[in-house]
Amino acid sequence: MALRHFLTLRDLSSAELEQIIERAQELKKLQHANQVYQPFKGKVLGMIFEKSSTRTRVSFEAGMSQFGGSAIFLSPRDTQLGRGEPIEDSARVISSMLDIVMIRTFGHDIIERFAAQSKVPVINALTDDHHPCQLLADVQTFVEHRGSIKNKTVAWIGDGNNMCNSYIEAGHMWGFKLKIAAPQGYEPKPEFLKDFEHCVELVSSAEEAAKNADLIVTDVWASMGQEEEQKIREKAFADYQVNEDLMKLANPDCLFMHCLPAHRGEEISETMLDHQSAVVWDEAENRLHAQKALMEFLLLEHSK
Ligand code: CP
Ligand code: NVA
Repeated sequence: MALRHFLTLRDLSSAELEQIIERAQELKKLQHANQVYQPFKGKVLGMIFEKSSTRTRVSFEAGMSQFGGSAIFLSPRDTQLGRGEPIEDSARVISSMLDIVMIRTFGHDIIERFAAQSKVPVINALTDDHHPCQLLADVQTFVEHRGSIKNKTVAWIGDGNNMCNSYIEAGHMWGFKLKIAAPQGYEPKPEFLKDFEHCVELVSSAEEAAKNADLIVTDVWASMGQEEEQKIREKAFADYQVNEDLMKLANPDCLFMHCLPAHRGEEISETMLDHQSAVVWDEAENRLHAQKALMEFLLLEHSK
C-alpha cells in the first residue's frame, strides 16, 4: 500500500474521513468498556513538538500506549532540531527508526518538507496554517450529539487562523456550509478561501454568522507565536465574543465548540463553557479516539 500522510484534511477522501469518524466512535466504545485492543505492539510514534500542547500530546501518547505501542516526545530544546539540523536530514533519520510521526510546528512548509523525506506516515498536529486532527474530533463530536454534519450550517466566529482554515476544508470534505465572521484584517488569507466559494461565506458580524447556525465555533484571538499581538487583537476582536446572547440567535439545538485552551472573558464569556450547548469536554476527549482511528488507518491500511 502507498505511504499516506495527513498534513491537511484534503490528504484523505471524504469517504476515508467518514470511515475514520465511524471507527473513532467504535474505538471510544471499546476504550470505555475497558477492552484491550493492541494492534500496535512494538510500534513507535515520534512526537515532535515545536509549540506547547496539552491535549495533543496526551491524546497521541495515551492512544499509542492503549494500542500497545509507545511514543517518544521530541522537542527542539533537547534534540538537534533546535540546533539547526536541516528538517530533511532529521526526517530521513527519524523515519528510519520509527513507524509513524506527528509534528506540531510553525510554518506549514516545515511539515511538508519533513513528509517529503519521510519513509513513514506523518500527521499534522498543528501548523500555523492547519489543525486537521482537531477537525476529526470536532466532527466526531457533532455526529455523536446531532448525527450527520452534512448540509448543516457552521459559524466560525473569530480569527481566520489555522483552525478556521481547517474548518474551511472540512466544509468541503463533509458537505456543510461555513459562515465566517472575522474582524477586518483577520479574515482567512485568500489562498485558503479560493477553492471553497461553494461552501464558505464571509459575513460581516458575529450576529450574522450565528443566525440559524447548527454549530458555533471559536478559538483564541492570538494563536501560539502571536503572543506579542495580544493587546492589539483584544481591541480588534472585541465584538466577536461568543456568549449566551449570541447563542440565542442560533438554532435551538445549536452546539458550541472550542478546540481549547480557552480564554474566558475574551473570545468566550466567563460561563460559555458551562452553557447547555457546549460540548467542549467531549470534543477534547474525542482527540484521543479520533487520532487512534487516524493512526490505525495510516499505519495498518496504508503504510509502507
Ligand atoms: N486543541 C489543542 O490542540 O490543544 P493543545 O494545544 O493542548 O494540544
Ligand atoms: N489557533 C490556536 C489553536 C491551539 C490549539 C493556536 O494555533 O495557538
